[in-house]
Amino acid sequence: MKALLLSGGSGTRLRPLTHTSAKQLVPVANKPVLFYGLEAIAEAGVTEVGIVVGDTAEEIREAVGDGSAFGLDVTYIPQAAPLGLAHAVLIAREFLGDEDFVMYLGDNFVVGGITDLVDAFRTEQPDAQILLTKVPNPTAFGVAELDAAGRVVGLEEKPARPRSELALVGVYLFGPAIHEAVRAIEPSRRGELEITDAVQRLIDTGRDVRSTTVSGYWKDTGNVTDMLEVNRSVLETLERRIDGAVDAGSEIIGRVRIEAGAKVTGSRIVGPVVVGPETVIADSYVGPFTSIAGGCRIEDSEIEYSIMLRDSSMSGVRRVQASLIGRNVEVTPADRRPAAHRFVLGDHSRVRISS
Ligand code: DAU
Repeated sequence: MKALLLSGGSGTRLRPLTHTSAKQLVPVANKPVLFYGLEAIAEAGVTEVGIVVGDTAEEIREAVGDGSAFGLDVTYIPQAAPLGLAHAVLIAREFLGDEDFVMYLGDNFVVGGITDLVDAFRTEQPDAQILLTKVPNPTAFGVAELDAAGRVVGLEEKPARPRSELALVGVYLFGPAIHEAVRAIEPSRRGELEITDAVQRLIDTGRDVRSTTVSGYWKDTGNVTDMLEVNRSVLETLERRIDGAVDAGSEIIGRVRIEAGAKVTGSRIVGPVVVGPETVIADSYVGPFTSIAGGCRIEDSEIEYSIMLRDSSMSGVRRVQASLIGRNVEVTPADRRPAAHRFVLGDHSRVRISS
């Protein structure tokens, strides 16, 4: 079994986080979402991974390298333009050969990994296995229709009038029959070779297509509430580990990870919390479900249920909750009368003031 990890697509800067144009590198609990996919693939016992890359190839290569850090052997497969998920399969033909493979969309996050799924596929050997999950907004996804016995009877990409609330999750398992299917289909209305059409073709030609429904699924849509929630669910599984320096005046409660080089003085941290390397936390409170990246500074402040990215700082601010703070951001109180709010906010910012 091989893996095809899709990390192409065009670089757009439309999400609240603009430091990366590769949506697959958006961090969850201080780690790019793509890395969870790589780890899930490695955990399932698959080592040969083809990564499809597009405009953001450089950023992806820099982050993943040759894959050895994950115990993987990575081959990069450049895609000239994002012509669709089935197009990615088409151009990976040589890499994939006639082996079974798991196709994993690099901006997807599946809680609990894919090991059981891969094992079941190995044993049962259908032609395709898709993953489904209930979503509140099926029009934004590929949608599956099941019959009374739970068999997949139809798939539709981003339908205006969805026939179910079951969305396709970005993890698919395929046997070699998919290659004929991706060659046979035509581009869709949006000009892409859709994997949903290829799977529909497998169904129409009598192939064995199965589905499993999962919960615990996330995809970066630029929605901050969802990001905080996926951050929370990952931190739930965190194990306590203190590698940084914590002084006697600090109290670290529960599952807290403090990376080497971080420094905590006169503070109270209530887990689950992760604190990145070289971050300083002084005279502050950091509450549950917070991810503070590396190189940050939190001084005389209170923050909880939030995400702070690299090299940002907060001083004399209380109390910050349910917030997403990007890179190189500075939050301080206004220092002069009148007591007014002063902002320098980037594009697509959203601010809620409590006073
Ligand atoms: O996330 C699940 C959804 O993913 C499914 O429900 C849909 O059926 C499926 O078509 C796909 O929908 P999206 O339109 O959201 O896919 P997106 O364009 O975001 O691409 C998904 C990943 O694949 C992303 O990491 C970029 C990468 N990609 C995408 C295309 C179109 C490529 O590497 N090459 C491509 O040509």
